[in-house]
Amino acid sequence: MENTIDHFVNKSKTWDMSSERVQNAKEIAELIVSNIKLERSMEIMDFGAGTGLLSYFVAPYVKKIVAVDNSPSMLREFENKCDEFVCETEVLEMDLSYQTLDKKFDGIISSMTLHHIEDTTALFSKLYAMLPEHGFIAIADLDSEDGTFHGDNTGVFHYGFDRHVLTASAQKAGFRDVAFSLANTIKKPQATFSVFLMTAVK
Ligand SMILES: C[S@@+](CC[C@H](N)C(=O)[O-])C[C@H]1O[C@@H](n2cnc3c(N)ncnc32)[C@H](O)[C@@H]1O
Repeated sequence: MENTIDHFVNKSKTWDMSSERVQNAKEIAELIVSNIKLERSMEIMDFGAGTGLLSYFVAPYVKKIVAVDNSPSMLREFENKCDEFVCETEVLEMDLSYQTLDKKFDGIISSMTLHHIEDTTALFSKLYAMLPEHGFIAIADLDSEDGTFHGDNTGVFHYGFDRHVLTASAQKAGFRDVAFSLANTIKKPQATFSVFLMTAVK
């Protein structure tokens, strides 16, 4: 692995203390649940699961969530509370920018992680390979912003995303039925930021 820096080591302990973050994950989860037919037999991956905010709200609808993340400190927080999840969980510390996972999931969910990935088409190709026919992705992140969302842009490769560019990137990897909806808006003193949910199928 080329990049072994844990960019979240100073944020992991207090990550869940932000009510804004918890609310954002809840809104995204509710939209995923209403847009995608989740089943209690499904095993899904939460890419960039972090402390598990999104996983927690999706857990009641699936059998198992595999939390993939390259931050040991964030995954430690996930593990500390995984007893409270109402589905099975597994934690995999890995960096999907450099590594591959030889495993298939019924679907892949993600919240606020894609902007940390430099080559989104390469990532979409990896996610595509980890899905069966008709498997889904449901990925939430920021619409294009001016670079002021994060106080510190270390590890941030994209100031949000243009939906047309992201659609082309997902289609290039083979995904079809790419669709977007508004998941949430986050008000900060400097601006209001919108969060999309992108869904697509293999
Ligand atoms: C902004 S946090 C979001 C965490 C969680 N999904 C949430 O909504 O609270 C981004 C997460 O993505 C992880 N991440 C960033 N780049 C990654 C990569 N290349 N492979 C795996 N995880 C990555 C970070 O470690 C971090 O936990």
